[in-house]
Amino acid sequence: MTTPLEQQASILGQMGMTRFFRRLLTEKPEILMKNVTVEAVRPGRWIRVEGRWVRNFGSDSFLGLDQHPAVQEALIRGVREWGTHNGTSRAFSSVAANVEAEERLAAWLGTEAALMYPSVSLANMGALPALTTRHDVIVADQYAHNSIEEGMRLAKARGVRSAKFAHNNPDDLERCLRSLRPYRRAVVAVDGVYSMSGQLPPLKELQQIARNHDGFLYVDDAHGTGVVGAQGRGTVWQTLGNYENVVVVGSLSKALSCLGGFIAASRCVIEVLQLRSHPLIFGGPVPPPYLTALLKVLDILCSPEYEQLRVALDANVCRLIEGARRLGLVVLGGCVPIVSVLVGPEEMTLQAGRFLFERGYYVQSVVFPAVPHGAGVLRVQLNANHPSEAIDGLLEAFAALKRVFPLPEVEPTVVPYPGPSLHATAIPA
Ligand SMILES: Cc1ncc(COP(=O)(O)O)c(C=O)c1O
Repeated sequence: MTTPLEQQASILGQMGMTRFFRRLLTEKPEILMKNVTVEAVRPGRWIRVEGRWVRNFGSDSFLGLDQHPAVQEALIRGVREWGTHNGTSRAFSSVAANVEAEERLAAWLGTEAALMYPSVSLANMGALPALTTRHDVIVADQYAHNSIEEGMRLAKARGVRSAKFAHNNPDDLERCLRSLRPYRRAVVAVDGVYSMSGQLPPLKELQQIARNHDGFLYVDDAHGTGVVGAQGRGTVWQTLGNYENVVVVGSLSKALSCLGGFIAASRCVIEVLQLRSHPLIFGGPVPPPYLTALLKVLDILCSPEYEQLRVALDANVCRLIEGARRLGLVVLGGCVPIVSVLVGPEEMTLQAGRFLFERGYYVQSVVFPAVPHGAGVLRVQLNANHPSEAIDGLLEAFAALKRVFPLPEVEPTVVPYPGPSLHATAIPA
């Protein structure tokens, strides 16, 4: 006899995408490369999966700092100094390294203050309800990260109205805001970099519309942190040149290779978040060893070494994009080290990912709902410490893939890719 809990799990397992993935798992377990177990890691961005060594093109550690000896040393030093964790909510106490890390984050970005959360998801789920009341509205880009949507849901449960506008479309944002009147304030929530396509939002236009409609920008720049703009300060600084009327959300777990997320804004905003943001008040902090590691990462970001890392990373992005274009693949992104190759149907995207894996390259097969239905992509994440032969090998595997699978095509080009330049907002044709 099954229990109510098991019956509930069985009902849930038959719904929507869960059913799709369960069917694939039963009928074609070999192509479903989800929840992959990495058995071991080696320099050169090797990972062992299913007993096979493959190059890992699925890591957000864009600057390769997870393998940096000084960052690893700092993490170990943090364990010795503070222990493995700080077992209390920050509403009670914080280790000095946490206070220092926030001050250093704000100084690096050029904001008045910063506040750390254990993840970007928690930052969004904490900040969006904290920054709004039932008199306010939240309007988000239709493709903003799921955690923005979760934050909106939590705010909605407290009476905040919300809506979505068409992706990267300022006119639709304006239409949306007009339709929501009357309200007191509007939060306009977008990603700083769209993580599945690598595209950037038109922040200047969005900011202007937000201002004209009693609103402010809320930019989740998780994928821009550390890799967009001078010293990796991110999309907001790079595009707007100031932080006026903006809440910036950044990641410590991607290019910065530590753990957590942060919100950077003027001091009055940060003080409100400290008092109103539930995950901070009722949950625990980033473990101290990651704080000492973060201090070392911030040293690197502010040193000449950062430029070297960026040169290596940008060269890798160019190598891949130019190679993919020579093959006539449809390439999305490229302003950050995320390059997506369009495949199309869900099942073919999963099969294509498996095909590359069999040839020694792990990339993420991304399908609906992370991308629109029928627009699955192979998402390649480039790191500064990918050797060039790994990128060439991946391109050869793509060439083989193209011979076997009916991938969408464009006219092959040999135009040099100028790179994810500091000012790029889109891939030049
Ligand atoms: C824009 C954006 N926000 C939030 C997240 C989630 O970050 P975290 O893992 O720190 O919760 C991601 C993850 O990829 C992201 O791309």
